[in-house]
Amino acid sequence: MRRVILATCLAATMLAAATALAVDLRGLRGPTPIGETKESAQIAREINDDARRSRNYPEQPPVIPHSIRGYEVSLNANRCLSCHGRRMTEMSQAPMISVTHFMDRDDQILATVSARRYFCTQCHVPQHEAKPLVPNGFTDIDTLIERQRKTLGTAGTGARQ
Ligand code: HEC
Ligand code: HEC
Repeated sequence: MRRVILATCLAATMLAAATALAVDLRGLRGPTPIGETKESAQIAREINDDARRSRNYPEQPPVIPHSIRGYEVSLNANRCLSCHGRRMTEMSQAPMISVTHFMDRDDQILATVSARRYFCTQCHVPQHEAKPLVPNGFTDIDTLIERQRKTLGTAGTGARQ
């Protein structure tokens, strides 16, 4: 009997907690009830200004500063490589894919683009004129070092870019 009471109490507590959570939860659908279909938001405009963006850290795949709408990347064709491929950059004036794109998983440099880097949009993404869906508190390493230097009062260790 005691067990049954305990289990009932536990279930009641969980239910109460779940109800409290449900009140606070706000999905991307907003307050639209489950049974209703929300009207789709407008597709945001793609940024196409050709201005290369700075990277937040050295290993970041640079974001794409041009439209890629309709560019095919499949088994048969890779539109990106028609401009960014090693032999195409003279004609296109696009930055060449870097040497890491030719490396296999053992860091051996291959003659052509590595299979690991063939599907460009796995890592590189275009940008849109849209309000971010969630806030982003990312802080650049230079800002962190600057902050630490100010609190510790340590002298500079050289120029940074
Ligand atoms: C018609 C030629 C062309 C095609 C096709 C093309 N690009 Fe580009 N891309 C460029 C040029 C030129 C730049 C230099 C900036 C600019 O002018 O937009 C560039 C810039 C970039 C950059 C920024 C590099 C940096 O260092 O900031 C990335 C990333 C990129 N492209 C990825 C892609 C991907 C992925 C595709 C395929 C989905 C693609 N590009 C297709 C011409 C092209
Ligand atoms: C697995 C992730 C990944 C894939 C897939 C990938 N890249 Fe990258 N790319 C990166 C990273 C990381 C960097 C920056 C560091 C570096 O050069 O490796 C980069 C850098 C670049 C740059 C700038 C090169 C430079 O020297 O400034 C261009 C242009 C580029 N990628 C184009 C492409 C294209 C075109 C494809 C498809 C054929 C592609 N990437 C596929 C991760 C990727």
